[in-house]
Amino acid sequence: MQHVLFVCLGNICRSPMAEAIFNDLLKQRHLTSQFAVASVATSPEEEGNPPHPGALKALRAHGLDASDHRSRPITAEDFDWADTIITMDHANVANLQRMAPNATDAAKVKLCLDILPGRTGEAIDDPWYTHKFELTYRELAAALPAWLAALA
Ligand code: 4NP
Repeated sequence: MQHVLFVCLGNICRSPMAEAIFNDLLKQRHLTSQFAVASVATSPEEEGNPPHPGALKALRAHGLDASDHRSRPITAEDFDWADTIITMDHANVANLQRMAPNATDAAKVKLCLDILPGRTGEAIDDPWYTHKFELTYRELAAALPAWLAALA
C-alpha cells in the first residue's frame, strides 16, 4: 500500500481537488487497493472548512465531488504516514521542508508539475487568488496520471 499525500496552503482548493482527481484515476484503473490518498494544509487558517465553492464547481463539471472534505493542517504523523508528498508551489515546498520532522520526511516532498517534461519547476498557482479553478483542474488532470504511472 502506497500512501500519497497532497498538500497546499489552505487545503480547500488545490490539494482536495488533487485528492479527488487522483482517487478517480485509481478507481478507473482498479488500483484503489494499492493506494491510500489524503490531503492537508501547510496553514491552519482554513481548518474545519469544506473546499472552496470554485473548487467544488470545477470538480463537479468533471463528474467529481469533494464536498465531504474538511481542511486540516499537516502533522508529524502525516509526514511519517506519507510515502510521497505532492505539493503545488514553491512556498509549499519550502514550508514543508522546514516543517518536516527529519531529512527522510523532507525528501518525500515533490512539486506536482515536476513530473511533466517541459513544466519542471513550474507552480500550480493558487486559484484562491487567481479564481482560475478550471485551469487548476486541467493542470492537475495533466500531472496526476503521470504521478500514478511513476508510483504504480
Ligand atoms: P489552497 O488555496 O492552498 O489551494 O487551498 C488557498 C486557500 C485559502 C487561503 C490561501 C490559499 N487562505 O489564505 O486562506
